[in-house]
Amino acid sequence: TSLKNYNTFGIDAKATYFSEIQSVADLTEALALKGYPDFFILGGGSNMLITQDLNYFVLYINIKGIEAVWEDEDHICIEVNAGENWHDLVLWTLDRNYGGLENLSLIPGNSGTAPIQNIGAYGVELKDTFVSCKAMEIATHKLHQFSKADCKFGYRESYFKNEGKGKYIITSIQLKLTKKNHRKHIDYGAIASELKDKGIQDPGIKDISNAVVAIRQSKLPDPKELGNSGSFFKNPVLKKKEFDKFIGSNPEAPFYTISEMEFKVPAGWLIEQCGFKGKRFGDAGIHKHQALVLVNYGSATGHQIIALAHNIMKAVYDKFNIAITPEVNIIK
Ligand code: EPU
Repeated sequence: TSLKNYNTFGIDAKATYFSEIQSVADLTEALALKGYPDFFILGGGSNMLITQDLNYFVLYINIKGIEAVWEDEDHICIEVNAGENWHDLVLWTLDRNYGGLENLSLIPGNSGTAPIQNIGAYGVELKDTFVSCKAMEIATHKLHQFSKADCKFGYRESYFKNEGKGKYIITSIQLKLTKKNHRKHIDYGAIASELKDKGIQDPGIKDISNAVVAIRQSKLPDPKELGNSGSFFKNPVLKKKEFDKFIGSNPEAPFYTISEMEFKVPAGWLIEQCGFKGKRFGDAGIHKHQALVLVNYGSATGHQIIALAHNIMKAVYDKFNIAITPEVNIIK
């Protein structure tokens, strides 16, 4: 099976075995099969770079369904199965005026993989509405429930990317959303100016979603048109001493203060300063509107994208003495 249509980078690699999983029962059944190569768990394929044919048994998690778990006057808790497309879920919540996910509009990928990297954008992260998730342990075929604390969320980090890596398959997530008195996050510069341009003073959650969609569409390439995995790198977090040195020699650099001791610097800015923005090397390139995004113009291989990523990492290190690391999963 070719995986070209199953990863947003559009890498044309093949899977030795491939099975679509539509229910927890399907999953239990597949995990019990003997005599196959190791399993590889595939969700929306939006945060990975495949570098070669996968000699694995690929389980494509496509379990659908959204249901209410409980609700009161102010809140609703919903359970979303792992195969629900993330943006479709956001639209579903907006249709019902449930608040909490509007800033996370248009993020590619599926609901079940959202906790792995604690997806985030425009001042909001998954963890802000997250209650718990269910995940099947690959070794025992048992379903476990993980609370928010169990998931150990951080900036683009979770238990599932660290100690729990490769051990579990998330089958559903539970989110707690607001039914009224929505807590709006509109301080992020780009959102504020988008709303101002539209003349919207007291935005509702749909207005916020529309603003986020407009910003994303102006900066981030649509994977259907141009293969990519969103931000290829994480924004580096610098300790105070390192940051003072950096900002001393680059006073014009943008940054976010995390705490008195930690500062996040946009990798997109660092990469742009190294002259990469909009450059193309064969079919691999750097997006013209956002230097943090690497793109596949058609038939780039995973190795060509990685070679470009290494050149970028080296250039940023040589110029700023800052090490940036990939955010996407590199599949070898
Ligand atoms: N910048 C540049 N040049 C560039 C790109 C950015 O100078 O080519 C500067 C911008 O001018 C701005 C700053 O860097 O001052 C931040 O840029 P932006 O608002 O586009 O956000 P980001 O830090 O580059 C992060 C997330 C995105 C998320 C946006 C908005 C990471 C790794 N990326 O990007 O997430 O959408 O903030 O919240 O944290 C993703 O994870 O795939 C993703 C797209």
